[in-house]
Parts: sequence; structure tokens; C-alpha cells
Amino acid sequence: MSKAKKRYAQVGMGGRSRMYTDAIIGDFSDSCELAAICDKSGGRLDLANRHIAELGGSPAPTYRADDFDKMIAEVKPDVVIVTTGPDATHSDYICRAMELGCDVVTEKPMTTDATRCRKILKTAAETGKNLQVTFNYRYAPPRSQVREIIASAAIGEILSVDFAWLLDTRHGADYFRRWHRRRENSGSLLVHKATHHFDLVNWWLDDVPEEVFSHASLAYYTPATAERMGLAGRSERCRDCPVAEKCKFHLDLADSENMKEMYLDCEDEPDGYIRDKCVFSDEIDIWDNMSVSVGYKRGALLNYILHAYSPYEGYRIAFNGTKGRLEHHACENTYVSGDGTVPGELVKKNTTIALIPEFSQPEAIEVRTGEGGHGGGDTLLLTDIFDPEAPADPLKRKAGARDGAYSILVGVAACKSIDTGKAIKIADLLGDDQ
Ligand SMILES: NC(=O)c1ccc[n+]([C@@H]2O[C@H](COP(=O)([O-])OP(=O)(O)OC[C@H]3O[C@@H](n4cnc5c(N)ncnc54)[C@H](O)[C@@H]3O)[C@@H](O)[C@H]2O)c1
Repeated sequence: MSKAKKRYAQVGMGGRSRMYTDAIIGDFSDSCELAAICDKSGGRLDLANRHIAELGGSPAPTYRADDFDKMIAEVKPDVVIVTTGPDATHSDYICRAMELGCDVVTEKPMTTDATRCRKILKTAAETGKNLQVTFNYRYAPPRSQVREIIASAAIGEILSVDFAWLLDTRHGADYFRRWHRRRENSGSLLVHKATHHFDLVNWWLDDVPEEVFSHASLAYYTPATAERMGLAGRSERCRDCPVAEKCKFHLDLADSENMKEMYLDCEDEPDGYIRDKCVFSDEIDIWDNMSVSVGYKRGALLNYILHAYSPYEGYRIAFNGTKGRLEHHACENTYVSGDGTVPGELVKKNTTIALIPEFSQPEAIEVRTGEGGHGGGDTLLLTDIFDPEAPADPLKRKAGARDGAYSILVGVAACKSIDTGKAIKIADLLGDDQ
């Protein structure tokens, strides 16, 4: 007798949603079924079903956001996949889905503040439901390789980590165009983006962060930079901007069929979602220049820098251990999220790992590479989520609620530190839910 398929309902049918939808109706259709889709926007629900039909799938029943409970009652999914944006909307769906008896797979960041985080941890504990946070970055082969080298004790116990992540003026700028640009939506890039980076460090070190201090500024995506670039008279969005031709940040949504259908053609929806707002707007209240210092439980110190106005996209990290140093550099292809291209591919020739044992010379390690989105991480992540036969993972890449919590709480603590000028203890944010 053939095994029953696992039933998935997906909420949030924007740019990121397709990776999951395509996997369910494509590579994993023998064991998975898309039972329903849900969104605030009727236009994006229709678009999702047109896309499913193009791939040869059957249209999924559609539900508007207000009918989420009705959807769960009617289609009885086993698992709810949360791919909504703004990130601040994740927690309501995560908690409600678990309360209604479903397991949950959620996009990062798990949520955006400490109150919502505590509610998720409490609901997961009370319902006993499983929550997976999809940290695709862990699965990219070079990052998995770094975890293996550290776990092998080749550089001993890690004492300190220097980590700089550079977002470029294409992909990085894009966070300043739409909902991410407000802290109430994304928690700032210290949560929205850095959740990946803090999760990587927590996982690489196999440790938990204890105390955070941070500085930040909004230094580049400002009206003053627009003035410096000769963009006087700019509009609040690209579409009707009189100085579009002069602006290096101009985004024409009609240039990409994907962007046009997903955002431009849905603009008459009541949610007022405008995808191409001006990156120099004074509406922006997130930072583009961030520096964070983190103390870990076993004593390691992390120095982390994130900026969003670099000429190239990538990162440089060094681990200093009791028996040597490990350096890892990577460069990513640039893109704009949702433009239909493969996101975050690693540029192989610029991705390196070097091991420098104490009292010796650097040794270049051959870097493992992967194909597909986010350095090959997306493909491996999908197998881990959807393949019922996926083997046990010695690298423990499948992340749960606790990993989701520790990764966002570093960013939440950093925001609080910037606001107060004080060091913030993670335990104080977690309260009794530790
Ligand atoms: N792991 C990664 O590499 C990666 C990459 C891109 C995006 N993401 C994450 O995926 C999520 C979605 O990002 P995106 O780029 O697709 O955003 P998006 O803006 O393109 O799409 C978000 C969708 O959510 C819908 N939505 C908004 N509020 C809703 C609500 N209350 N109820 C139901 N639907 C609602 C919107 O209508 C839209 O269709 C974000 O949390 C983002 O952080 C992760």
C-alpha cells in the first residue's frame, strides 16, 4: 500500500514562496501535496496558481489571510509553511498553526522581537508541535565544511571570531525599497538579515550567545546621499521618478516579468504594497552600517560588521582558536530578490577556506561547491524538509525554535543596545523561557 502524502498549506505567496511551492509540486510530489495557499493579496494567490499550472500542477484552493483558521479546518494540513513578509507577521501564523494542530516550517527570521519570540517558544512547548526554521545558509557546502573543520578541533577551542558581511548596492540596496526598511516590519537588518549570520556563528561554534553590545548608523541610504549624487527632485518611488535616468538605484519593475506580475500588477490591492520605493527616502528607519560585539557562553568573543552599501556582495570570517586560525572568504553573485534569477550563488573562484595551524603556514583547503540558490544551500535544505527518506544529518543542519530564537535575539539585543547605549543580556530577553 502506498504511503499517504504529507499535506502542506502555505501562507505568504511572494518572491520566496516559489522555492517551496515548486518543490512540493515538483521534485517531492511523490510524498508531498499542496493542500492550500493563503495570502493577503488575491492577485498574488491567482499568480501562484497560474505559476503552478505552468509547471503542470493542479491549482491549490486559495484562502485570504482572514480565513487562515477556516483553511486549516477545511483542508486539514499536516504542516503549514510560513513565507509571509513582513517578517513581523510570521509569529501569528506560526503560533496559530501549532495551536490548530499543525507542524510548521518557517522562513527566517523566526520573528522580529523578544515578545513574539517568547510566545513562539511557549506555544511550541505547550502544543508539542514541531517548528523548523529554514536556515538555508547552513546547507551551502563551504559553510557546512567550515562546521566540519571546527568540529574536528583542527584549530582547538574557538576564542574569537571576526566576521564582516557585505551587502552590495544592488541586493543590499533592495532592503531599503520595501517593507524591510521599517524596524516594525523586519526588526532591521540586524534581525532580518543578520539572523542568518548569527545563526551560522551559533551553529559553527555550537554555543549560545550571552551578551551583546552594538553601534549602528544610517549613513548611506539617506536624502543627503541623493543630493550628493545629483538626484534633487527625486520622487518617493522609481516608477514616476523624474531623475530615474540619472539614478544608479533605479528599479523598473516592468523590466522583469516576474517582478511585474508579482508586484506591479498587484498594486491596486488594499495592502498598498509598493515594491520600488526610493532608497533615499526619509521614511527609512533601519541602519545600513552596523557593528555588534557578542560574548558567548563558553567564552568566545564575536566581532560582527554588516554594511549594505558595498561594491560587491560577500563575507570574510576568521576563527581564532587555541590551536590555530581558520579563514573563510566568499563572494556572491548579485541579484534583486524576486527578479527570477538564482539568488545568492557563490562565485567559486572567490570562495576560499584556509587553515593556519599554530606555528605554521596557511594551508588552502579545497572548497566544496554546490549548485543553485544561496550557494547551493536551497537545494539541500529542500531535501531535508520534504524528503521522508532524508538520512540523519551528522552536521545537525535542521534548525528548530531554539535556534530560531538565539539567532534573532542577538539582533534584537543589538537593537536594544543601540537604543539604550548599554550591553544587553540575552537571558533578560528570554525571560523564563530559557
Ligand atoms: N532564506 C532566504 O534566503 C530568504 C530569501 C528571501 C526571503 N526570505 C524570507 O521569506 C519571507 C518572504 O519574503 P519575500 O521576499 O517573498 O517577500 P514578498 O514581499 O515578496 O512576499 C510576501 C508575501 O506575504 C504576503 N503577506 C503579507 N502580509 C501577510 C499576512 N498578514 N498574511 C498573509 N500574507 C501576507 C504578501 O502579500 C506577499 O505575497 C520573508 O520572511 C523573508 O525574510 C528568505
